[in-house]
Parts: sequence; C-alpha cells; structure tokens
Amino acid sequence: MDHFLYRDGQLFAEDVPLAQIAAEVGTPFYVYSSATLLRHFKLFDDALAGMDHLVCFAMKSLSNQAVLKLLGDAGAGMDVVSGGEYRRARAAGIPGDRIVFSGIGKTREEMRTALEGGIRQFNVESEPEMEALSEVATSLGLEAPITVRVNPDVDAKTHAKISTGKKEDKFGIPISRAREVYAMAAALPGLKVIGIDVHIGSQLTELEPFRLAYRKVAELTEQLRADGHEITRLDLGGGLGIPYARDNSAPPLPTDYGAMIREEVGHLGCEIEIEPGRLISGNAGLLVAGVIYVKSGEGRRFLILDAAMNDLIRPAMYEAWHDIIPVIEPAAGHDLTPYDIVGPVCESGDTFAKGRMMPTLQAQDLVAFRSAGAYGAVMSSEYNSRPLIPEVLVQGDQFAVIRRRPTFDEMINRDTIPEWL
Ligand code: LLP
Repeated sequence: MDHFLYRDGQLFAEDVPLAQIAAEVGTPFYVYSSATLLRHFKLFDDALAGMDHLVCFAMKSLSNQAVLKLLGDAGAGMDVVSGGEYRRARAAGIPGDRIVFSGIGKTREEMRTALEGGIRQFNVESEPEMEALSEVATSLGLEAPITVRVNPDVDAKTHAKISTGKKEDKFGIPISRAREVYAMAAALPGLKVIGIDVHIGSQLTELEPFRLAYRKVAELTEQLRADGHEITRLDLGGGLGIPYARDNSAPPLPTDYGAMIREEVGHLGCEIEIEPGRLISGNAGLLVAGVIYVKSGEGRRFLILDAAMNDLIRPAMYEAWHDIIPVIEPAAGHDLTPYDIVGPVCESGDTFAKGRMMPTLQAQDLVAFRSAGAYGAVMSSEYNSRPLIPEVLVQGDQFAVIRRRPTFDEMINRDTIPEWL
C-alpha cells in the first residue's frame, strides 16, 4: 500500500496534488511519501517485535538526507557501503552505533572514518579486508566489531545482476570455509568477532531462498559457538521484493518474512539485524515527468518524455517494469493506445516501455512512474548534460524540495580548464 492515489480526478501524493508540485518545481522530479516510508519501516520493525533487533535501512536505495532523518527519527539504523554513505548517515543524525558497514571493497581510509566516527559493526567480506581492518583498528588503538559475510551458495531466483549469494558471485566468503576464517579473525588483534552476516540478493519474490540461507547461518552459528566464538548478532541482509506492476502476484509480506526469521534463527538468542532497502523506499516514491512530444513512427507511436534513462536507469539496465500512469485520472471506459515510452537521450536504450497500453496522451500531459523510490534518484547521472532532477518530500498536506535542481552553471563549473589550454 502506498499514499499515491487518485482523488477528485487527479493523482495525489498524500494530500498534495502532483500537478501542484509540478507547477512549482517543474518536471521531471522525484517525489516521496513520508507516510509510506514510515509505514514500510514499521512493518519490518513490527515483524521482528519480541526479538532484540535493528532494522538498518539500505540507504543505497535512497540516500537523501531528509529521508534518512525521517527514518532515523523513527528508530532505523543504516546499512552503508561507502565512506560517502557513512558521512551522509552521520550528517542526517544517525548515531554510529546504529550504522553497519557492508561492501567488498572498503578502503583503509573508509575503515578509519567509520572507526573514528563510531560504528556498530563492519560486515567483512574477505581475509585481506580482515587483515587491513585489523591493522587500521590497531593503529588507532581501537577494536573493530565484525561479522563475516558468508556466501551460502543459494539461488535467490532473481535478476542475475542483483543476485549475490551464489558461489560464483563476488560477495562474502564461501560458507564452507567459514570456520577457518573465523579462527583467523579471532587471532587477529583489533578485531572483535560478534556475529555472522548474509545477503543473497535483491528483489526476491519468494521466502524459500531466504529460508535456505538462514538455516545455513543457524547451523554455522552453532558450529562457531562450539569452536569457542561468541556469536551474539546475526545480520540477515535485505532483499525482500516489491510488486512493480499492480496486477502482479504479490511478493511475501514483511510479517511472513519476520515469522520465517523467528522460525529459522529465533532459538539462537541472537540480536537480529536486517537491511531492507527497496521494500521501504521503492513504492514510497514516484518519478513525475512531462510529455514533450507525441511522435508517430513507422507503425508506432512514441511518447517522448522529459525524463530519461539518466534519471531512471532501471528499465535500460535490468529491463525493469515500472507502471506508468497519467497524473490526470482517465475517464471511465477510456480508450487505450500502445505507446513506446522514451526519453530524449541519444540512444535507443533510452526506452522506458515498448507498446505500453496507456490512455491517450498529448504534449504537456504529466505521467508518474510508480515504484521509483528505490534505486531511482541514487542511480541517476548527468548523461547528455542533463542536470540531476529535484527530489521532493511530502508529509500530509505539505511538501518540500529536499534536493533542488542544480543550475546549468553549477553543473558546468565543476569542470576546470587548465591554464595551459
Ligand atoms: N544489503 C546489502 C549488503 C546489499 O547489497 C543490498 C542491495 C541490500 C542490503 C538491500 O537490498 P534490497 O532490500 O534493496 O533489495 N540497483 C538494483 C538493486 C541493487 C541491490 C544491491 N544491493 C535495482 O535497481 O534493482
């Protein structure tokens, strides 16, 4: 459920008509619903109620300061994957003891930043990383709390580009080698082993792969405890999928996911962390765009929007489906026209949808891409020298621009021409 509904013949974000935001901010723009973000966070938080737990929002999915503050104030922790994300989280007021640091390529500099600034744990992904962290922590006279990310060799049954838990993937250490890697960690100075981490992929639409992975983590917990390690925390990653098309069968709900976690690892008495991104932010955001032209091609009709692949890369990159709906509610019994919905960027990959059945549209009309809150704005670029588009946050009947559109000069003046040219 989200808070983007038609009311009085037009699409609203909570209590604000999108047409009003478009008139004030200009298109294209991203808009997020506070109520939806909070609702989704709370679904996870409630699903783990009764267990010692922390929901760490995977901020790679949506990292605007205002969104982080909103979720942080509601009690969320953050899963960060770079020094930049760490700084963003801290700048939004998230305490270090609610930040977990994931990623296979943490640099010594990033480790230092997090150790000095305060960190809940590092999810370590390899032996060389472990040695580097040991050195950095020792040189600072600090102790780094760690989990080791294990690769359980489970098929997440999702798009190949976002699957991370098969043995051929670059993530984690093979679970078969976990015991020797934990022995090595225990022997290194400056590290404190506290738990196990696992994340098998994104946009999972079934619980079974999670269940298989968590069962392996539960077995490993018992083995490691028998080996003398104190395993008190399990980070179970993110990955629960969302419905992208309204008429699709629905992926499992956070409540079912939470119940499954309890079944698989509840008996271990560990503190549980999860790292959901998409399920919290995906359906809490829209990309709103204007129609520039309707162009007739050879047996096709192109809807040319002012948003492009640089603003929302998911269709070009993963053949992802996003529902696209008109901002003015179509009249009952309206005709449908097949459109190729494209952006102005100079490559054919800049296509959002082919032959999409839509109510008849014309230049100046507004459309909204659903499910665009996750991996939308954060993956955008300035390709074709198109400045990054604004982000807007709605709460009830108020809205605010939470990242403004840069001016052309700001974009151009980041470059410098050397004096010898
Ligand atoms: N934890 C770790 C260690 C991750 O690598 C990820 C996502 C998450 C948590 C959050 O997963 P989520 O709950 O959002 O599924 N750009 C792609 C998705 C890439 C996901 C990368 N890792 C897309 O647009 O579909």
